[in-house]
Amino acid sequence: MNVLVVFDHPRRNSFCGAVLDRFVDGLQEAGHKAEIADLRAEGFDPRLGVEDEPDRDAPGKIYSPAVLAEQARVTRNDALAFVFPVWWWSLPATSKGWIDRVWNRDWAYGARKLTHNKALLIGLASADAGQYAKRSYDSAMQTQLVQGVLNYCGIEEASLELLHGSTGSESGRSGLLDRAAMLGRTF
Ligand SMILES: Cc1cc2nc3c(=O)[nH]c(=O)nc-3n(C[C@H](O)[C@H](O)[C@H](O)COP(=O)(O)O)c2cc1C
Repeated sequence: MNVLVVFDHPRRNSFCGAVLDRFVDGLQEAGHKAEIADLRAEGFDPRLGVEDEPDRDAPGKIYSPAVLAEQARVTRNDALAFVFPVWWWSLPATSKGWIDRVWNRDWAYGARKLTHNKALLIGLASADAGQYAKRSYDSAMQTQLVQGVLNYCGIEEASLELLHGSTGSESGRSGLLDRAAMLGRTF
């Protein structure tokens, strides 16, 4: 499959960037092709302005050139993955805004939905699984992102993988890198 991997971190040389590298290695080992969308490095503007505002009274509205270019990038891939640090129990603002603007009305929901085979969210989490479960942050993210965004936009095979302990020990982080590679190999 051709997989668009959306990366949202201020630094490509972060631990999150290392997770991205290992995930892409795994995809390639399994015979997939990865196209990386490094939203921060590319300067993507996450703010939804008037030109991209969904308009119920204007079916077939043509969105901004920036959004059309992103939609072309999404369309030319069969599957999607997101690699990001969990910030406040959710996506960071740039990937949230990328979805706000690009997954627009009558393209990703409404008259038309996405037709991708699958989508995987890989979130790096500083807190451990017990801390997430204690206040149901894990199920909240599942509901909001997997059901509320990916399933809602037509992608049935969708999942969230949290890599817990992203700010922890070197050996723990090394295990997370191995898990990222495995997620690529088994994508
Ligand atoms: C603004 C901000 C909010 C964060 N919110 C959370 C959070 O809600 N849950 C969590 O487990 N970690 C949270 N963290 C920790 C990050 O997930 C962690 O720093 C990151 O995964 C480490 O990877 P990096 O070194 O590549 O940035 C937050 C960090 C920042 C900067």
